Amino acid sequence: MNQTIDDLIAHARSQPAPLLPLLHRLHERDGYLSDETLRAVAEGLKIPIADLFGTVTFYHHFARVEGGFTAPRVCDGPVCRLAGAHELLTQLDGAKPMPCSGRCDEPIPVLRGGQTFVGLSADALEARPTPLPPTPPAGTEECVFRHIRDDGRNTLEGYRSTGGYSALEKAVTSMTPEDVIAEVDASELAGRGGAGFPTGRKWRAVQDAEGGPKTVVCNADEGEPGCFKDRALMDHDPHAVLEGIALACFATGAPRAFLYLRYEYPETEHLLTAAIQEAERAGMLGDDVFGTGHTIRIHIRRGAGAYICGEETSLLNSLEGKHPFPRNRPPDPVTDGYEGTPTAVNNVETLAAVPPILLHGADWYRDLGLGGHAGTKVISLSGDVHTPGNYEVPIGLPFRTLIEEWAGGTRAGNAIQAVTMAGLSGGFLAGDDLDVTLDEPSIRSKGSMLGAGGIMVFDETRNMIEIAHMAMEFFADESCGKCFPCRIGTQRLTERLAGGGDRHEGIPSDIVAWLDEVADLGDTMKATSACGLGQAAPLITESLVRYFPEAVRKHVSETDG
Ligand SMILES: Cc1cc2nc3c(=O)[nH]c(=O)nc-3n(C[C@H](O)[C@H](O)[C@H](O)COP(=O)(O)O)c2cc1C
Ligand code: SF4
Repeated sequence: MNQTIDDLIAHARSQPAPLLPLLHRLHERDGYLSDETLRAVAEGLKIPIADLFGTVTFYHHFARVEGGFTAPRVCDGPVCRLAGAHELLTQLDGAKPMPCSGRCDEPIPVLRGGQTFVGLSADALEARPTPLPPTPPAGTEECVFRHIRDDGRNTLEGYRSTGGYSALEKAVTSMTPEDVIAEVDASELAGRGGAGFPTGRKWRAVQDAEGGPKTVVCNADEGEPGCFKDRALMDHDPHAVLEGIALACFATGAPRAFLYLRYEYPETEHLLTAAIQEAERAGMLGDDVFGTGHTIRIHIRRGAGAYICGEETSLLNSLEGKHPFPRNRPPDPVTDGYEGTPTAVNNVETLAAVPPILLHGADWYRDLGLGGHAGTKVISLSGDVHTPGNYEVPIGLPFRTLIEEWAGGTRAGNAIQAVTMAGLSGGFLAGDDLDVTLDEPSIRSKGSMLGAGGIMVFDETRNMIEIAHMAMEFFADESCGKCFPCRIGTQRLTERLAGGGDRHEGIPSDIVAWLDEVADLGDTMKATSACGLGQAAPLITESLVRYFPEAVRKHVSETDG
């Protein structure tokens, strides 16, 4: 029986961060969000109607026309586009493109209502579980993937069978929060969501901050094209993520946590909900964790499609039901996060690394790295490689070793023309610069970054101008528009990369003028953009010009202004 909108609003109001779950419930119930529904929500949650309309229409996935919820959405990320996404779009009635939906190891994902299908053509589409990470070379020691391939791993019993939740039990029964933070500090674990901030230091800042209740947020937005590691962790090892969140709660003194999950992972929400219920029933989460009286409540909140919501302050605004613009800093979330409370925002992979660190010790974790680097990093590898997938590598592993020895080389043995780093945010690496090791200092020395660890490989058969255009178009579509240089700059750079019939009037066909304009736009964006999106986007054009001057020259001269 359908509940009335008043019942649903009353229930939502009894929950923290009520707007997104309420909108999702109504979206699923009615198949879209009507004007009338939005008016009732605005009144029920006391949100100005204009603000609510602005917020709802900002997200990609809230449909405003009947039947929109179940209309197919086809992944239009770079890897899927090269695999034929545009053709698939024409084969499915009423289909719309969606930005990279985090399944680049198994193109092409299609979202229909609450289910994901994958396949290269309409006839081949089928619902399949998220692929498991490929087996690494013999002798490799992993941290977060250590048990991920074990049978039954995503059940509480399976997780417990290898010591799952014993790190949490040990922490709450015989350690102080400071002990936990000291161990995490000693492990040199740093954020795996992109920025690489030391995790122990972040937790200590939250613990030391005045006010409360404190909050932990697990950032599972994973919107960076070419990144799909968090999905694998949550689907195949959900309890490890939950235990990591619980340890962050204990260390920071937070009784509550949110897991902010990207819209495009509907199956993951069910798996995580079941895992939370299982752990609560067993007394490992909830109001009396391991009989110690500690409260740790984890709430899942699902986004609605917006890359910018991965940026932590934008995420917090989204949770609070506000327009998800990034916030100005300072203050930072560690003192003024969710509803102004001290908040630790951490990536899924960062949190999943904490239980094994506490079980095996900081030295064990540090020693997993190579060449003086600490620990491991999951690399989501996709594109023109023999075996795409998630690989947990020792930090410091040579990139070419990953490609040649772990991933079976390139597709059809072709030479690599370029790869992207940090998904798209690190721009391209090519030529001799591919002789990097997989760690921030090595990759930053080439003007790029490792970030969240997405690497898309493009072989010698690919058109790099076209790929750069796709990348910039993504940033232009996803710029939240708060700051002028990013909003306009990403559009102008996209226009300069457009070829053929998409060529805009007034774009210089003189290479010197074109290069000057592109450099000027990029410099302005890097200097004045308020968040990482606007600062990173120009790396695409900078690296394109650096590695592929001839292709750029040809592109500029072939299309008349
Ligand atoms: C545009 C943008 C998008 C981001 N997307 C994500 C994301 O999807 N997942 C994530 O964990 N961090 C993302 N981040 C980084 C977060 O702001 C934040 O640094 C991170 O969640 C902190 O967790 P960590 O310290 O464990 O890495 C993004 C940052 C920017 C600027
Ligand atoms: S840099 Fe771009 S995405 Fe970031 S706040 Fe400014 S307009 Fe928004």
